[in-house]
Amino acid sequence: MTDLVSQPAPDPAAEHAERVEHRWATFAVAIIVLLVAVATFAAFYHTAVPQARVETVNPRTLHLAGEFIESNLGSALDADGSVTVRVIGEQYSFTPSCILVPTDTPITFRMTSADVVHGFLVDGTNINLMLVPGYISSLGARFDAPGERLMPCHEFCGVGHEGMWARVRIVDKAAFVALATRRRRLSCVE
Ligand code: CUA
Repeated sequence: MTDLVSQPAPDPAAEHAERVEHRWATFAVAIIVLLVAVATFAAFYHTAVPQARVETVNPRTLHLAGEFIESNLGSALDADGSVTVRVIGEQYSFTPSCILVPTDTPITFRMTSADVVHGFLVDGTNINLMLVPGYISSLGARFDAPGERLMPCHEFCGVGHEGMWARVRIVDKAAFVALATRRRRLSCVE
C-alpha cells in the first residue's frame, strides 16, 4: 500500500530564504547585545572612575566674589602670553555678549551658568560646551584667522532660548596685545 499523504518536496529557494533570515536576525540580536554590553560597561566604568578634575563654583554668589565677578569677566592676557576668557551664561544672555580674542594664541574658555543649563558653541568651529550651574566648564581653543563668529546658546533653557546668543570677534594678535596693555579685561561689547 502506497502512502497517499506524501510530504511536499522541499523547496530549495524557501530553505535558502529561511537561512538568510536566520542569519540576519542573529546579527541584529548581536548588535543589541553589544550595545547593552557597551552601555553597561560605560556606566560602571564612569561610576568607578570619576572625572579627573571637576571644578565647582557656587552659582548664587558668582556676582559677589571669586573668579566670575563682573570686573573679571571677558578676555585676560596672561603672563605666559596665553589668553583666558571668562564668561557667564544666564537666562537669556551671555556676559560679555561680545567676546574678543586674538589670532594664533592659545585661548582657554572658562565658563559657568548662573541659573539653568545653557549651551556654548562657536559657529564654524568644534568649540562646544555645556554650561552647568555649579560647575566650571573649561576648554582650550585657537583661532587662525580674524573674523566674527556667532555664538548661539544651543541648549533649550526657557522661553527666551532662541534669543540667547553672543558673538566672538577674532582680531589680529598685535592689536589684541596693544589693547590689553591699556585694559585688564577685554571684550567687544560696545
Ligand atoms: Cu541659554 Cu538656551
